[in-house]
Amino acid sequence: MSFHVAVLASGTGSNLQALLDRVHGHDGIEIVCVASNKHDAPALARARDAEIETGVFPAEDYPDRASRDIALADWLDEREVHLVVLAGFMEILTTHLIDRFRGRIVNVHPSLLPAFPGVRAIEQALDYGVQVTGVTVHFVDEGVDSGPIVLQESFELPYHRDIAAIEQRFHEVEHRLLPRAVRLIAAGRVRVDEQNPRLVHVEPDSAADG
Ligand code: GRF
Repeated sequence: MSFHVAVLASGTGSNLQALLDRVHGHDGIEIVCVASNKHDAPALARARDAEIETGVFPAEDYPDRASRDIALADWLDEREVHLVVLAGFMEILTTHLIDRFRGRIVNVHPSLLPAFPGVRAIEQALDYGVQVTGVTVHFVDEGVDSGPIVLQESFELPYHRDIAAIEQRFHEVEHRLLPRAVRLIAAGRVRVDEQNPRLVHVEPDSAADG
């Protein structure tokens, strides 16, 4: 059986696109479904173009966040998902979903965590005036961008404040790092240390780079 990946996205979906281009259909990895909390998320159109099943789970359609997360977890389970990738999913998931996929949910975040968690991470870093920043892929727990770190890549920020150019730089790194993390996890090369659950061992694989 192939390694089933689900992607959750609220926005543009450029990270979803990177996964579709670089991971889907390679090395036994299949993106089996894409879900959003927004009916009009452009990410859904990218999924449909790739003929991948989509689902929409807006929180406002449910009595509370717990019910929504249980419905979403059931939907993911029915599709026998091994790994859930948050690619710009702009809501905090509750324990009702996280518990069902503990250690099998990753998120991509545009900062070197634990610096600048939460929304507007790039703006926060620019406002602070940091000179080095980067991208983090981490496992998801109940906190805000607080789970164990799988991969990080740093780079220097230019002095100019051309936000579009800076965002472009973040995206270049994200679009490489997130597919790499998914390939490494699918290959069984990522392991959380039993003695120290904050520590994630990653066994490098040159074939997983790029
Ligand atoms: C990315 O910057 C990601 O790091 C953050 O949300 C953004 C999503 O962008 N979590 P896109 O929708 O994948 O283009």
